Amino acid sequence: MRRPVRIAVTGAAGAISYSLLFKIAAGEMMGKDQPVILQLIELPHAMESLRGVAMELEDCAYPLLHTITLHDNVEDGFKSAHYALLVGARPRGPGMERSDLLEVNAEIFARQGRALNDFANRDVKVLVTGNPANTNALIASRNAPNLSPSQFTCLTRLDHNRAKGILASHSGATARDINGIIIWGNHSPTQYPDLHQATILGEPALSQIDMDWYRDVFIPQVQQRGGAIIDARGLSSAASAAQAIVNQMHDWVLGTDPGEIVSMGILSDGSYGIEKGIFFSFPVRCNYGRYQIVRGIEINEFSQQRLNDTEQELLDEKAVIEHLLPKETEASH
Ligand code: NAD
Ligand code: LMR
Repeated sequence: MRRPVRIAVTGAAGAISYSLLFKIAAGEMMGKDQPVILQLIELPHAMESLRGVAMELEDCAYPLLHTITLHDNVEDGFKSAHYALLVGARPRGPGMERSDLLEVNAEIFARQGRALNDFANRDVKVLVTGNPANTNALIASRNAPNLSPSQFTCLTRLDHNRAKGILASHSGATARDINGIIIWGNHSPTQYPDLHQATILGEPALSQIDMDWYRDVFIPQVQQRGGAIIDARGLSSAASAAQAIVNQMHDWVLGTDPGEIVSMGILSDGSYGIEKGIFFSFPVRCNYGRYQIVRGIEINEFSQQRLNDTEQELLDEKAVIEHLLPKETEASH
C-alpha cells in the first residue's frame, strides 16, 4: 500500500466540500490505490458543522481514508500538505461591489499564500476555487515567494465540463466523444469557450453545428451558466464544481489521456500574447505532475477579440488589488 498523501481543504463545511470530500475519500481524485489524509479547515464559527461532516466521512468507512484532522486556521491546516484545495471564500453580500469582494478575498488569500509558503510541503499543488478564482490564485501565489507560481492553479475545469456537456446534449453525442474544447481566460462571464479545435467523434465540431448557435446560444450559455444555476437553485453550483475539482486535480497529478486537451487557470507566461502575471485559463496537457500549454493553436479574428476582452477583465481585477500584492522577488519566478 502507498503512503498516504495530505490533502488540505478550506471551506470544508460548505456546499462544494459536501460533495468533494466524499469523492476524494472514495479515491476518485488521487486514484483507487492512494490513501489520503484530509486536513479540513473552516472558520471558527463553522467548526461544529465541520465536526458533523467529519462524522459522516467516518461513517462511510472508506478504505482509502487514513485520517481526518480539523482546523480553525490555515497555519495548522496546511501543515505538510501535498495538495491544498482553496474552496472557502467570502461570498458577495448585499450592496457589495465586485471590487469590495476582490479586496476582502485578497486578504484571505494573502494569508493562505503565506501559510502555504511557511507550512505546506515544498512540492504542494494548490487549486483555487473560491471566487474570484483567477485573481485569488494570483494573490495566493504572490504571497508564497518560496513556492513556484507553477504550483498554483485556479478552477476553470467546471467551465470546460459545462461546454462539453452542453455540446454533447446539443449534438446528440456523449461527452466522451468530444475533445479539444478550450476555455480561455477568466472564470467569469468574459471567459471564451472556444470550439475551433473541438472534435465530435474525431470530426471538427464546427462543421457539425450551426455557427449562429455557436455564437448566439452556446457561448453565452457557457459564460453565464454559473448565474443560471444560482437563479434556478437559489444556490451556486456545488456538485458540478466538486466534480470539476476532482477532474482538474486528477489530471494534473496523474496526467491527461493521450491526445486529450483540458483547460486550466495558470499563470500566464505570455503565450498567445496574453500579458504575463495574470492567472488565465489555457489549453494544457498534463504529464508527470506537470502541465504544459498546448502551443501552435491558430487564433482567428473572432477568437482574438474574445481573448482580448477576458484578458482585459483580469488586468482590471489585478489593478484593483495591485496595492495589496507584495513586490515580486527573484525567488518567486
Ligand atoms: P459555501 O458558502 O457553501 O461554503 C464556503 C465555506 O467556506 C463556508 O463554510 C465558510 O465558512 C468557509 N470559509 C469562508 N472563508 C473561509 C476561510 N478564510 N477559511 C476557511 N473557510 C472559509 O460556498 P460553496 O458553494 O462551497 O462555494 C465556495 C466558493 O467557490 C465560493 O467562492 C463560490 O463562488 C466558488 N465557486 C467557484 C467555482 C469555480 O468554478 N471556480 C464554481 C462554484 C463555486
Ligand atoms: C459558478 O460558476 O457556478 C460559480 O462560480 C458561480 C458563483 O458566483 O458562485
